[in-house]
Amino acid sequence: SSLKIGLIPADGIGKEVIPAARAAIEALGSDIPKPEFYNLDAGFECFASTGTALPEETVEALQDSHCALFGAVSSPITKVTGYSSPIVALRKKLDLYANVRPVVSVAENAQEKPRVDLVVVRENTECLYVKQETITSTESGKEARATRLITERASRRIGRLAFELALGRPRQLVTIIHKSNVLSVTDGLFRETIRAVPRFAENGRYDNIQIEEQIVDSAVYRLFREPQIYDVMVAPNLYGDIISDAAAALVGSLGLVPSINAGDNFVMGEPVHGSAPDIAGRGIANPLASIRSAALMLRHLGYLNGADRLDKAVDGVIREGQVLTPDLGGSSKTQEVLDAVLKKI
Ligand code: NAI
Ligand code: MG
Repeated sequence: SSLKIGLIPADGIGKEVIPAARAAIEALGSDIPKPEFYNLDAGFECFASTGTALPEETVEALQDSHCALFGAVSSPITKVTGYSSPIVALRKKLDLYANVRPVVSVAENAQEKPRVDLVVVRENTECLYVKQETITSTESGKEARATRLITERASRRIGRLAFELALGRPRQLVTIIHKSNVLSVTDGLFRETIRAVPRFAENGRYDNIQIEEQIVDSAVYRLFREPQIYDVMVAPNLYGDIISDAAAALVGSLGLVPSINAGDNFVMGEPVHGSAPDIAGRGIANPLASIRSAALMLRHLGYLNGADRLDKAVDGVIREGQVLTPDLGGSSKTQEVLDAVLKKI
């Protein structure tokens, strides 16, 4: 049978990089079941023209698919009445509780910089992203509040996923990122729950995994100075968001860093970058993060050969350094980079 893949390019360069990822998947031939693609609407432009950022048909089509690729949304930084980010909503609706973001430098390209090979495992449904914000007027001016939700259930399942990932990696190390010196209740629960995961595992499954922890601010500092100390970093939603963008800077460009949003029943690939309005529409967006996101998605579904072929093709193009978009110092177009990848596939 076929592999049903929902495609949600959404806004800005999402419309340029998601078609590239589609072309790369199509080039895999018999390594995967025959792909069937569904183009689906969402995003700020969709909101502007239809009044909703996430049409019900999109959610329904995804529920009928095996997996999906999401581009990027342009979320305004000031409140727009009626608008809320579709990616945050999708993560909740499909219960995609983990955002997994591997950040890896392609060795030959790293020159004297230390080699980076880490994966950020970001909790995807809670923390400040529950978006319960209120504002009131007081005698001394306005007062705004946000609720930060951390539950044992969500912390445990993200912890398990981090330990599972660590099992498959040579260093077998999990670093818990938190700020429980200040937020001892919420971050305290996150930290304690993850520390306890090995105790509840069957047959000592995680007994050989080393657990470390790091306060989030010093974690960022050390990430820049000695990124090689990290293997799997597990973090609540907001810290994970920030850390993974920071880690992306170490490997040259946001345009290289992929992710998947994963739940127990669905997986959605998504480049870590946003809609990049500064370069949108010029055909120069780097498609490699999206192609790598397609690879991660396929790997998660168990299509290891297909995933390997995509990753090898991307790594080869980066290593050769001949056909690169401007964010990596090159002068090639999105299409030229895609063509180079397709040739290697
Ligand atoms: P951004 O990630 O869109 O761009 C940051 C910088 O990196 C820009 O200079 C951009 O040109 C560059 N860049 C990003 N991806 C690139 C690629 N594939 N190729 C070449 N260069 C690339 O972040 P920014 O500018 O802060 O946000 C723009 C919009 O995207 C905002 O509306 C924001 O809300 C949204 N956004 C959406 C995300 C999502 O859909 N998950 C994640 C982050 C931001
Ligand atoms: Mg981000």
